[in-house]
Amino acid sequence: MLCGLAACSTDAGVTARRSEAGVDPTDSQPVPTQPTTPQTAPIDDPNRDGVGDVLFPELGNPGIDVTHYGVAIAYDPATDVIDGAVTIDLELTEDRDAITLDAQGPEVTEVVVNGTTTTFLMDDPELRIDLPDKGRSGDSLQVVVRYGLHPYPQPSAIGMNNGWYNSPGGSYVLNEPDGARTWLPCNDHPSDKAAYTFTITVPAGLTAVANGALGDHRTEGDHEVWVWEETQPMATYLIQVLTGDYEVVEGTGPHGLELLSVVLRSDLAAMQPALDTMSPQIEFFEQFFGPYPFDRYGIAMTDSFGGLAMETQGRSLFSRDDFGFGVQQMLLSHELAHQWFGDAVTPARWQDIWLNEAFATYGHMMWLEHIGEQTVGAAAAEALMFRSFGATGTPGAAEMFGYNSYEGGAVVLHALRLQIGDDAFFTLLQRWVAENNGASRTTQDFIALAEDVAGERLSAFFDEWLFAGRTPTQFPR
Ligand code: ARG
Ligand code: ZN
Repeated sequence: MLCGLAACSTDAGVTARRSEAGVDPTDSQPVPTQPTTPQTAPIDDPNRDGVGDVLFPELGNPGIDVTHYGVAIAYDPATDVIDGAVTIDLELTEDRDAITLDAQGPEVTEVVVNGTTTTFLMDDPELRIDLPDKGRSGDSLQVVVRYGLHPYPQPSAIGMNNGWYNSPGGSYVLNEPDGARTWLPCNDHPSDKAAYTFTITVPAGLTAVANGALGDHRTEGDHEVWVWEETQPMATYLIQVLTGDYEVVEGTGPHGLELLSVVLRSDLAAMQPALDTMSPQIEFFEQFFGPYPFDRYGIAMTDSFGGLAMETQGRSLFSRDDFGFGVQQMLLSHELAHQWFGDAVTPARWQDIWLNEAFATYGHMMWLEHIGEQTVGAAAAEALMFRSFGATGTPGAAEMFGYNSYEGGAVVLHALRLQIGDDAFFTLLQRWVAENNGASRTTQDFIALAEDVAGERLSAFFDEWLFAGRTPTQFPR
């Protein structure tokens, strides 16, 4: 599903994209005699390899809209080798005779389109695929990519690595923002959400885990096959794949919500307090954010290095090493809040990252206040005091996961709450999720909804708090 891009975003969003691309729509240009946007751009045009994300120009692939990924992976943590095949159901959104996918590392051995083996070029980080027959906008294609690799976390422009990690007892993935393409050929941009089936084959005795519901689990010789189904639209950066000695722990949350967590068998007792936190936290957030947006929730406790926490869709990912040190309440509530903000409603462009991190930070501040720690007012005042220069609304890639997105973003939300009042603020958060669940949205979309809910123009407010390099030093009163 493709959203948030020109095809389905508001006029404001399109204008914003154009000006970000360096095209000022108000500039008076000589009237071109040729159409400025050709229907089918040449495949060797470097500007056409991505979907125009200013922070990650090569991410995404024009002309395609993925509806379903069938991810089939055989993996053995001992050899750390992936033998993969991904079946991608997609729709063409342009007439094309070739398409690209994002792939940075996978060694592709074969590509099949609608049953016909076709020619391709591995042009890292793009996989260029020739369509056997010329495709028309609206055509449905099934693309099968077979590949292999020895996966390695790759450096990202965010200043950290991401991708597939081999851990002492198995493996896990940390994809945000551009790690999925390092182990899975895909349309690696949050504007294109899709459904997934994961079929993961591991040596007998290991558990393989992915997002969604456990569909099937069978033994085939000395291997086990685990099938997981994620039917709700998901961005590639929210994929969870784990292998290891995991126990699947099922339960029931508020109003019958299905809970499905995975913890290392040796950690079962130690992780019980974390498992017990899920229901009260979900109940708490539902009062403010509206109904929990997915079919189930859970936590996954890996044997990764400490300091890892990620809002993988429907089941947040944590490091076992972070538990027992007093940060668990913050981490658990932060990643849970992301299920509404980031997972249900996903940023259409990486510059909109504050739509994720500001909201999850504000959520964990609310939970910490609820359990008797620092009040939201005090946390926000402290965050404002330490706020560094730079605009929360327009981070560079290296600042995406920095102070101005998290605490600085919470400052913007707290200022907005004081500006429009509690009723309008929480109505806004609830409507944002209820009206956009399953879609990808821009900051402009959020501002438009805020103005609608508040019944006032807020451009001056957002200019001061979200887009100015230096924010006010006092909250609105
Ligand atoms: N979204 C994560 C969080 O909840 C941060 C992920 C950062 N990405 C990374 N590759 N470490 O805050
Ligand atoms: Zn976060």
